[in-house]
Amino acid sequence: MIIKSPKKLIEVALPLDDINVAAAREKSIRHGHPSTLHLWWARRPLAAARAVLFAQMVNDPGGERGYKAGLTKEQANKKREALFDIIRDLVKWENTNNETVLERARAAIRESWRETCEMNKGKPGFDPDQLPAFHDPFAGGGAIPLEAQRLGLEAHASDLNPVAVLINKAMIEIPPKFAGRPPVGPEIEADKTSKKKSSHDAFEDWSGARGLAEDVRRYGHWMREEAFKRIGHLYPPVEITQAMVDNPANPRPDLQPYVGRKLTVIAWLWARTVKSPNPAYRHVDVPLVSNFMLSTKKGKEAYVEPVVEGDSYRFEVRIGAPDDTEAAKSGTKLSRGANFECIMSRSPIESEHIYSEAKRGRMDTRLMAIVCEGDRSRVYLPPSMEMEEIARKAQPAWQPENLMPNNPRWFSPPLYGLTTYGDLFTPRQLVALNTLSELITEARERVRIDALSVGIHDDGTPLHQGGNGAKAYSDALGLYLAFALDKGANYGSTLCAWHQTRYGIVSTFGRQALPMVWDFAEANPVGNSSGNFYQGALQAAKVVEQMPARSAGYASQQNASEQNLSEGKVISTDPPYYDNIGYADLSDFFYVWLRRSLGDTFPQLLQTISVPKNEELIAAPYRHGGREQAETFFLNGMRRTMQSLCRASEGSTPVTIYYAFRQSETRSDEGTASTGWETFLEAVVGAGFSVTGTWPMRTEYTGNLKKNVSALASSIVLVCRPREATAESISRKDFQRELRSELPEALETMIGG
Ligand SMILES: C[S@@+](CC[C@H](N)C(=O)[O-])C[C@H]1O[C@@H](n2cnc3c(N)ncnc32)[C@H](O)[C@@H]1O
Repeated sequence: MIIKSPKKLIEVALPLDDINVAAAREKSIRHGHPSTLHLWWARRPLAAARAVLFAQMVNDPGGERGYKAGLTKEQANKKREALFDIIRDLVKWENTNNETVLERARAAIRESWRETCEMNKGKPGFDPDQLPAFHDPFAGGGAIPLEAQRLGLEAHASDLNPVAVLINKAMIEIPPKFAGRPPVGPEIEADKTSKKKSSHDAFEDWSGARGLAEDVRRYGHWMREEAFKRIGHLYPPVEITQAMVDNPANPRPDLQPYVGRKLTVIAWLWARTVKSPNPAYRHVDVPLVSNFMLSTKKGKEAYVEPVVEGDSYRFEVRIGAPDDTEAAKSGTKLSRGANFECIMSRSPIESEHIYSEAKRGRMDTRLMAIVCEGDRSRVYLPPSMEMEEIARKAQPAWQPENLMPNNPRWFSPPLYGLTTYGDLFTPRQLVALNTLSELITEARERVRIDALSVGIHDDGTPLHQGGNGAKAYSDALGLYLAFALDKGANYGSTLCAWHQTRYGIVSTFGRQALPMVWDFAEANPVGNSSGNFYQGALQAAKVVEQMPARSAGYASQQNASEQNLSEGKVISTDPPYYDNIGYADLSDFFYVWLRRSLGDTFPQLLQTISVPKNEELIAAPYRHGGREQAETFFLNGMRRTMQSLCRASEGSTPVTIYYAFRQSETRSDEGTASTGWETFLEAVVGAGFSVTGTWPMRTEYTGNLKKNVSALASSIVLVCRPREATAESISRKDFQRELRSELPEALETMIGG
């Protein structure tokens, strides 16, 4: 059956600068952005996802294929400009939920669909009153399915990774199920008297997902209060005394205003230690510190000074700039990697010594400084025996035993004897996470009872069986609260550093890897600053509140190369980039906690002990026994996926595929194109697609991930249609040869040099 498919806007023109500017702006938005619901790596900006989908769905007014005769060139240009205007409005963050703007876009999509149906009258699948559904088989953090839902399509998201599936459930599947319901949880006591509009009568109406969002906030608050009752004693405040001010060894006049007050701790700063390599100091645990500065802000400098006394040492916290700031900034580090200096003997501590100490279980920690909440400023205090003992007293009932992969490129802690995901936490951090995990179970039961008491029906059907009564609602709440716990884990592991200019805790995933951190900051999960649990719940609530919660959405676990969910659906997708990110390995950090808290809520999805790895479509040599095998695995899997998309996708709409691009990729020694790109394009073309358009998108949402060499900065959207049977073909060898000669320059030109 021949399907008439008019050229789509994306195959002709796009207001690219407007899209790229909006996508870049979106990076700085934190409040309510889906990236703050749960971490995912290499997220697409919503602006790009929304614009691409729109332009892929609307017909180009030019009528190049003769399907839309009757318009002069000028008329067509005018109409195209009107579509551009819709895109310009659509991509703005502030219009994310602007119904006027969105409805204009939806109307244009419906109009194009009706035109297409008219051209294909009588053919199955062309019902002018029923838009085709949408599918993203590599949904990840869910930007693309979310935008499809916002534009009025029934959205289907799938991913191999259960963590990604849960993120998509939280964004597109759950909110529409419970849309329009008021919250069931009791109002937070403090809100009843609060004058703040955002807390008291948080919302005037409970349309969309607002009721759900408010419940995330209310039960998140309840959990924090309960957690404080149960484990608050592990996080005591520090009382400031006159003796601290008058300390003859280190007078601290800056503490005078606080004398007699108990200050809440924001972070405990620890240094890892090993036994000194110098035989004379073999009995001393010497610190491995990468930076002694606590604050580098001009006029607010503070630092730690190690003071050696006989054959021991202590840490002093000093206010003001050190004599040698550069030396303080180097800590006890001699050079990059695990190379330090013994503070007792000045002997070098080589990495081999650290490996061997760590492997023998002789790596320990020592408290270096304490950061407290002052009056609109941070107060830096020296460590105390008492504080150290309290931390060491904590005894977790459980810890994740899953092993980290043996892949130092992404995971260096195993080199230092930290082999399991549980080893990445202090006992106190584990106690906090265990407590929160137990509280999620208790919160769910409370939600169920509260929901029943306000009259929500009791069908006893859980969420995973399609329920939408009290039980299912309690399951749904559990998911958002577990996401807040994951945020707590992200800000509460021993891989979190202290940020000397932002005076806060740097999350575990500063980048797409888990590198070793020598001196780490332990947050206060029941306090008020970064890393506290309630903050995570509040952020989740803000995101939920913004969810479209309109047409139905579905998220499921599927291997993209073996699914048939794409059948008859519009496809826009963003596959993994060759060997760039090890999603499955990285996400185990969160999976273990999600499974602990929600194993019975999502029994199928969370049944495996860790995230499934074997079918993950990345070219990971350590998983496939070498580079070549990894490339073959990637090429075959990607080709199978592309074949199924090429065969199954809705016939009148092109498929759009994002592919990330790294500048460094075109600079390999042989002057060839990147293996990633080459292999990927080979899969696309080999699957039977022809590329009818390419668009460089300059920005990719990197959120708070640090810029580093492998950060993905730009990507290219390929617009693909099944190749006509009569099209010419060339051999694989010729294809590769042509790619190698053409691709580097073409990519540079497209990206803008
Ligand atoms: C580039 S990310 C998608 C990011 C997403 N567009 C966003 O904005 O967050 C690629 C996704 O492919 C998933 N993936 C890897 N192998 C897969 C497979 N065989 N089947 C389905 N999904 C897979 C990864 O888990 C990851 O979430």
